[in-house]
Amino acid sequence: MWLSTSAVFVLFSQISVAITENTKSEKKPHIIIILADDVGWNDFSLHGSNQIPTPNIDALGFNGVILDKFYTQQTCTPSRAALLTGKYPMRLGLQGTPIDAGENRSLPFNTPTMAEHLKKLGYSTHLVGKWHLGAACKKHTPTKRGFDTHFGYWEGYVGYFSYEINVTSPIDAKKNFSGFDLHDGFQPQWQLQGQYATELFAKKSLDIIEKHDTSKPLFLMLSHLAGHTGHDGTELGVPNKTRTDEVYSYIKGSERRSYADLINIMDQSVGEVVQKLSVRGMLENSIILFFSDNGAQTEGMFQNFGSSWPFRGLKFTLFEGGVRGTAAIYSPLFEKKNYINRELIHITDFLPTFYRAAGGNVKDLENIDGIDQWNVISKNENTARSHILLNIDDFSGYSGILGFEGRYKLLNGSFKDGLYNKYYGESGRNSENPTYNISSILTSPTNIAIQKLKGMKQLDSQKILQLRKEVTLDSCRSANNTDIFLCNDLCLFDIYSDPCETTNLIKDADKQKIVNNLKEKLDNYLTKIVPAANKLVDVRSDPNKFNNTWTPWLICNKNNVYISNNYIDKIINFYIKCLSLIL
Ligand SMILES: *[C@@H]1O[C@H](CO)[C@@H](O)[C@H](O)[C@H]1NC(C)=O
Ligand SMILES: *[C@@H]1O[C@H](CO)[C@@H](O)[C@H](O)[C@H]1NC(C)=O
Ligand SMILES: *[C@@H]1O[C@H](CO)[C@@H](O)[C@H](O)[C@H]1NC(C)=O
Ligand SMILES: *[C@@H]1O[C@H](CO)[C@@H](O)[C@H](O)[C@H]1NC(C)=O
Ligand SMILES: *[C@@H]1O[C@H](CO)[C@@H](O)[C@H](O)[C@H]1NC(C)=O
Ligand SMILES: *[C@@H]1O[C@H](CO)[C@@H](O)[C@H](O)[C@H]1NC(C)=O
Ligand SMILES: *[C@@H]1O[C@H](CO)[C@@H](O)[C@H](O)[C@H]1NC(C)=O
Ligand SMILES: *[C@@H]1O[C@H](CO)[C@@H](O)[C@H](O)[C@H]1NC(C)=O
Repeated sequence: MWLSTSAVFVLFSQISVAITENTKSEKKPHIIIILADDVGWNDFSLHGSNQIPTPNIDALGFNGVILDKFYTQQTCTPSRAALLTGKYPMRLGLQGTPIDAGENRSLPFNTPTMAEHLKKLGYSTHLVGKWHLGAACKKHTPTKRGFDTHFGYWEGYVGYFSYEINVTSPIDAKKNFSGFDLHDGFQPQWQLQGQYATELFAKKSLDIIEKHDTSKPLFLMLSHLAGHTGHDGTELGVPNKTRTDEVYSYIKGSERRSYADLINIMDQSVGEVVQKLSVRGMLENSIILFFSDNGAQTEGMFQNFGSSWPFRGLKFTLFEGGVRGTAAIYSPLFEKKNYINRELIHITDFLPTFYRAAGGNVKDLENIDGIDQWNVISKNENTARSHILLNIDDFSGYSGILGFEGRYKLLNGSFKDGLYNKYYGESGRNSENPTYNISSILTSPTNIAIQKLKGMKQLDSQKILQLRKEVTLDSCRSANNTDIFLCNDLCLFDIYSDPCETTNLIKDADKQKIVNNLKEKLDNYLTKIVPAANKLVDVRSDPNKFNNTWTPWLICNKNNVYISNNYIDKIINFYIKCLSLIL
């Protein structure tokens, strides 16, 4: 009898826990992150270029907050690692070049992701699109790292229609490991091959919002392929190239026209998501963050013809063109909106900021590098962040730190002897470009949805022009500046007075205190480094063995011991096991 009484008691206490959690979770904001890939500072019309119209992203920023001193990491894997863990990638071994398809590397198991943290607070968690944080074994992939669902791809990029990615075979440089990488959880989605990635990922995100139980908080990350190059690493896939060339006929290069279109289509997805949140009555309690994971790749490997004008440097570099990120964030919950935020903010800060917004206690997040910037963004208070470790890449041998509230940047060495260290990209300020179309901002689905909310200040053309002017950088580089700055003996730049990084101040007598301070900080971080864990592509990953599909080829068991998942290795492992039992 006593047993059933206690069972009733347990049942009762569970119900009351469920009730308190439910009432609490009603107030938790929905958190939506929309991530662009390799899109430059100058490829968003809010920054002053008229070449690529991005009315929805502009409307999000002008209604909300544009983060002007937002810094991200230099490439995909480090950025995504920093976003999801709140840690500098050099503390995860992920600071080097991004994870290759077929490479056995991942987020460390002992570091919880944003999805894992938010799940504990009662969130439904969904990832659509790119992961790029490891897929050697199932335990590396999103649905094992806190996401209830993942629809998308595990590797760095795929074809915009084919969803295939090739890497060079580690044993025969003339051969490719080629495979399909579009999965719903672990199910390959061959039947969707041929559909356009940006539209497909948008549609899946709308489905998630449509089906979401609105009594629960939602965490949705829409992680786009656009504007990375697809397929063989050169594709700039658009749905109808004839139409693209007509609409963007004012742009000279054919590739840049395609790039413009694929950015504009991504912009439309932002509008669709905001509109869907509005229709479902979720927008009034949402936080929507849009940003690009790193700067443009105007030239070279994965050349996408993007532009980080007027900044120096491309993706991979620690110059402003590589790491000064475009970010717009909107929430009706902000006390201060319609403004340009000039506080120093790093990509690692979003985890504690959102965790706090979700009602979590930031002190629970152990050993992170990000800081809670909720009041900084929502009230425009001063930030507590004084510096940012830009990166220490021990794999390629370059590092950098930004200190003194973001004023001074110290660089030590550069990526591949200065490849990508120059000035690149379109200014978008030429007379052949159209004028900025303010009515397209005002009539964008994003603006219409936001303006429907109660008590929302109406955005008008004057406000748009004023904010755009405030956030636009004029050309800050001299046309004749061709210095590359290898920084092997360190470089120092004054980002406030010289955002284009034209002048190395390392030898200035009056800057030596600053140099020493930053050197000391950088050296201090160096002692905390987890060495870059880059590996060669694993022969056993060859998609040939898995119906031409990228498939986790290793098994990580309970103790995270890795065993191969293909049958020959299974047989070998079996024999080894038998042998070890006999001997
Ligand atoms: C995969 O990587 C993990 C972590 O570095 C390592 O412990 C393991 O031995 C690797 N497995 C294989 C089969 O390479
Ligand atoms: C392998 O893929 C690369 C691009 O990823 C391509 O340039 C090369 O031609 C391919 N090689 C073969 C043999 O298919
Ligand atoms: C990928 O590799 C396969 C096999 O080597 C090859 O047939 C195909 O053309 C490659 N695709 C690209 C885009 O390089
Ligand atoms: C592609 O665009 C052109 C020009 O706008 C149009 O005439 C054509 O019908 C489109 N093709 C398809 C398949 O939609
Ligand atoms: C500006 O945008 C509006 C709304 O999208 C559109 O109707 C109009 O044609 C555009 N104007 C120009 C000059 O492109
Ligand atoms: C570069 O241009 C600036 C003016 O923009 C000028 O002062 C300087 O002398 C020029 N340098 C060279 C090397 O031509
Ligand atoms: C600069 O990098 C080199 C290695 O590339 C390292 O030995 C040196 O300590 C670094 N300097 C600072 C100030 O971190
Ligand atoms: C194997 O790949 C083909 C496409 O090449 C696909 O149609 C088929 O469904 C796949 N089989 C399985 C079991 O996934």
